[in-house]
Amino acid sequence: MTAPALIQLSAVTKRYGSGASELLALKGIDLDITAGEFVAIMGPSGSGKSTAMNILGCLDTPTSGQYLFKGAHVESLTRDQRARLRRRYLGFVFQGFNLLARTSAQENVELPLLYRGDSASTRRVAAAKALQSVGLGGWERHTPAELSGGQQQRVAIARAIVTEPAVVLADEPTGNLDTQRSHEIMGLLLALNRDHGITVLMVTHEPDMAAYARRMVHFLDGRLARDEVNANPVTAAPADLATSEST
Ligand SMILES: Nc1ncnc2c1ncn2[C@@H]1O[C@H](COP(=O)(O)OP(=O)(O)OP(=O)(O)O)[C@@H](O)[C@H]1O
Ligand SMILES: [Mg+2]
Repeated sequence: MTAPALIQLSAVTKRYGSGASELLALKGIDLDITAGEFVAIMGPSGSGKSTAMNILGCLDTPTSGQYLFKGAHVESLTRDQRARLRRRYLGFVFQGFNLLARTSAQENVELPLLYRGDSASTRRVAAAKALQSVGLGGWERHTPAELSGGQQQRVAIARAIVTEPAVVLADEPTGNLDTQRSHEIMGLLLALNRDHGITVLMVTHEPDMAAYARRMVHFLDGRLARDEVNANPVTAAPADLATSEST
């Protein structure tokens, strides 16, 4: 028996606007993702990658079609139910880090736990552990302005995993980083996937970063143009990077 899909999109469409300004951003997407996969989503600008990620992340709903998450029909959930699903199962990483300024790394990472109603002591311990796991032990009190881009993205990853999500959705997580920092971030995402069994869905324009994924899904003009297995994924960030200063 094959493993049941964690995520199932069936004939998903997304329309923005109406009348003359109407735009069909997704034109019927069928996509099954099994727990534990590492998927790179690629395709030209405007092909619908972020639109699909927003739907997958329960931040937005399809215009038509079905989205099953663990067998639940996401498209018919209320806004509150979707928010709960998001808080319980999903973690997000964005190109622009999206950290709160003038707020310490520790507090940024604690935020999802605060929304969840965890106690201050639970939050403190879990956030410190998450920061440790992304190599930022000792940086808890620094604010984003006092951190490099690579470090800010690590804080964002710590924030994404502090709730122990089933899925991490990353939309161009290395888009604002240089090559070395990009590989470091990919090494982290790889470890989340391999060592913690977290399903990773990542949008990227960079073939070098997509090469870490075991599956590549290509969007073209609102459709899935190609869905392929990467038989030889990169299994570790380049060795010369592992020993370098991680800032
Ligand atoms: N909120 C919105 N309102 C109206 N149109 C939108 C909205 N979001 C996206 N679109 C349009 O939908 C299409 C798909 O956009 P989307 O952001 O999904 O593309 P993308 O593949 O993520 O591109 P990029 O690589 O540039 O990030 C584009 O034509 C875009 O202009
Ligand atoms: Mg996008």
